[in-house]
Amino acid sequence: MFPPLIYLSLFLTVTNAATPTYSATYLPSNVPEQTEEGQTGTNRCGTALNQTSGCQDAYLNSLDDWCVWAPPEPGPLSTIGETERIEVAWCIKNGTGARLIPDGAITGAHWLVTPDYIQVTGSGNMTLLNIPANDEGGELDPHGADGNGNPIGGIVWSNAFGGQLEQIFEWTNFMGEGQFCIRICDPKGPNAPGYCQHVYDELGCPWNMPANYEKGFDSCSADSGEPPGVYGGSTFHQGEPVTPDPHPAPKPTSCTTMTSIGNGFIIQGTSIMAPSSSTKPTSSGASGSASGASAGSGSGGGAKPTGSNNSARGHGPALTSTQGWERIAVSLGSAIVFSLVGAVIVL
Ligand SMILES: *[C@@H]1O[C@H](CO)[C@@H](O)[C@H](O)[C@H]1NC(C)=O
Ligand SMILES: *[C@@H]1O[C@H](CO)[C@@H](O)[C@H](O)[C@H]1NC(C)=O
Ligand SMILES: *[C@@H]1O[C@H](CO)[C@@H](O)[C@H](O)[C@H]1NC(C)=O
Ligand SMILES: *[C@@H]1O[C@H](CO)[C@@H](O)[C@H](O)[C@H]1NC(C)=O
Repeated sequence: MFPPLIYLSLFLTVTNAATPTYSATYLPSNVPEQTEEGQTGTNRCGTALNQTSGCQDAYLNSLDDWCVWAPPEPGPLSTIGETERIEVAWCIKNGTGARLIPDGAITGAHWLVTPDYIQVTGSGNMTLLNIPANDEGGELDPHGADGNGNPIGGIVWSNAFGGQLEQIFEWTNFMGEGQFCIRICDPKGPNAPGYCQHVYDELGCPWNMPANYEKGFDSCSADSGEPPGVYGGSTFHQGEPVTPDPHPAPKPTSCTTMTSIGNGFIIQGTSIMAPSSSTKPTSSGASGSASGASAGSGSGGGAKPTGSNNSARGHGPALTSTQGWERIAVSLGSAIVFSLVGAVIVL
């Protein structure tokens, strides 16, 4: 056994690494061209229409004004697992300089406001966002293995926590072929890292964000529920032999619905045309034109919450190493905490 001093210094190191330190706070007005080493895109996005944009700023403001992360290029190699470091922002609304989500791609979106977080969950055809068909999906968050985000330099902003646009330091986004979910945690909340947990990256949308994934568009409120992985006093760690059931979805109340969300632009691959004055912007609205794509397909970003094992969700090599590192950090952390407790008792 190590002498207690070694435990202590290890403990401090780990604590430092794990404590969220929000070293820089940016707004679109003061953000530099790039914010992290190794970034492939930009945070200075302008407002131009550009379906090959490298913009890495995502806004989540309301049911018809949000963004998710998806690959910059199409193709079979563009799985989320393979491209997590270089994803770009795809947004519902024009004006952010990011790529626009083509109308029709999103068949369901459910904006949920809780005391601790806001999320949007839903379904659609994510191949229109360069995600390859049959991609089992993956998770994006600002805490990659090297301390940079996945994507590197990706920034999230929101005006939904009290009206002022602010940087969101804790967020998590699962993307798959047929399903998506993204959650942002209130920077003023007491447990933002817990509610925007990023260590359950193999368990998919329904496990991490149990909520409505059906067709249709609404905006509701709900209680926060428990943070993912926390069951009363005990915490589940991904990879343990038995994965517990997801928490029940917090019950949505005071809902308002929209018949469609979209931007009206005509998008074919990387070509984009503003809606002509004769074309009603709602004509191709995301109200279900993308045929049968729905949450029910089960093959997309949402692993079925069976509680059996984790294999339902694939991930690329990069994701594997991230997740391995996270597991080591977590178990090292708890081992050290227990050892410290032991040391204190011995002393
Ligand atoms: C669109 O964005 C890409 C990537 O940043 C850039 O290379 C290209 O010049 C932009 N196109 C236009 C028309 O601004
Ligand atoms: C898209 O947004 C930009 C910036 O807000 C604006 O200048 C432009 O007119 C918009 N385009 C259309 C067709 O609405
Ligand atoms: C998704 O969109 C692509 C391109 O339009 C189409 O080929 C494919 O059939 C769609 N997938 C589903 C499940 O609707
Ligand atoms: C996990 O699921 C996979 C695919 O369904 C299956 O092949 C494997 O046997 C399962 N493993 C366990 C330990 O249940």
